[in-house]
Amino acid sequence: MKASIGVGLIGTGYMGKCHALARNSVKPVFGSGPQPRLVHLAEVNAAIAQTKADEFGFAKATGDWRELIADPEVDVVSVTTPNAFHAEMAIAALEAGKHVWCEKPMAVALADAERMAAVAKASGKVAVLGYNYIQNPLVRHIGALLEQGAIGSVNHVRLEMDEDFMADPEALFYWKSEASSGYGALDDFGVHPLSLLHVLFGSVARVFAHLAKPYPTRPTKEGTARAVETFDIASVLFEMGRRDQWRHGAQPLGPGPQGAHCAADFRVQGLDCL
Ligand SMILES: NC(=O)c1ccc[n+]([C@@H]2O[C@H](COP(=O)([O-])OP(=O)(O)OC[C@H]3O[C@@H](n4cnc5c(N)ncnc54)[C@H](O)[C@@H]3O)[C@@H](O)[C@H]2O)c1
Repeated sequence: MKASIGVGLIGTGYMGKCHALARNSVKPVFGSGPQPRLVHLAEVNAAIAQTKADEFGFAKATGDWRELIADPEVDVVSVTTPNAFHAEMAIAALEAGKHVWCEKPMAVALADAERMAAVAKASGKVAVLGYNYIQNPLVRHIGALLEQGAIGSVNHVRLEMDEDFMADPEALFYWKSEASSGYGALDDFGVHPLSLLHVLFGSVARVFAHLAKPYPTRPTKEGTARAVETFDIASVLFEMGRRDQWRHGAQPLGPGPQGAHCAADFRVQGLDCL
């Protein structure tokens, strides 16, 4: 077993910082075992990369993510860039023989996600996606209770998730407002309840979705207004496929009322429980 694991981090915004903090917490949380070494960090230019490398404790910095991927000291790459880059960066890292932790949503197009899955499978490397809720011990406990029949034969599930970071109509237009990032609430944070639904209740047979755009334009930092290309609200109704008798509804919603920074509600209804 290796004594340490060389980490590369691409993107240093909200989630990049989380990944850096988490890598630095491995020893206090897990104790002995291979420890992460913060080897190489990439950003949009060399100056930002150097500043963030100093802040987060990375040895090397680059304004070109391909240099990080070519670095033989890097064993695992964290991809924490905007969604549109996930497929290209994760595939390049896997093809270079690196393990990958790529943030959610996996990709913005099904074809990209399928390519990523195929490359990951062929690489034999560990490839993880940032659906972090499904790793939560609480969720695993819910899974165990469901398996034991504590809620009986499940006939309906309702999931809601509110995030208020775009609830303010004056919040600036940014990459999550662009169509290149995907659909908006659905693949931004709606994917978390969707991942729970998938892990706890199996595959989806049919789906009906409604997306809404409460604020059609947003101000830009240049002082103009720009048309919003994504949808801040998503409501989805699913029919689950794994067990024919099950019917589930799931509604990832957003933006919630201001003040509901991140609220998740999860209700499961069943018959003949223990
Ligand atoms: N798992 C979760 O709960 C969770 C939470 C928030 C965000 N995310 C995901 O994390 C990803 C990043 O989101 P965020 O909120 O941190 O965004 P962010 O805008 O805060 O950070 C993105 C960073 O990537 C950098 N970047 C952009 N293009 C780059 C390039 N070509 N090379 C190197 N760096 C580049 C930007 O400069 C920025 O620092 C998104 O895919 C998002 O969906 C996951």
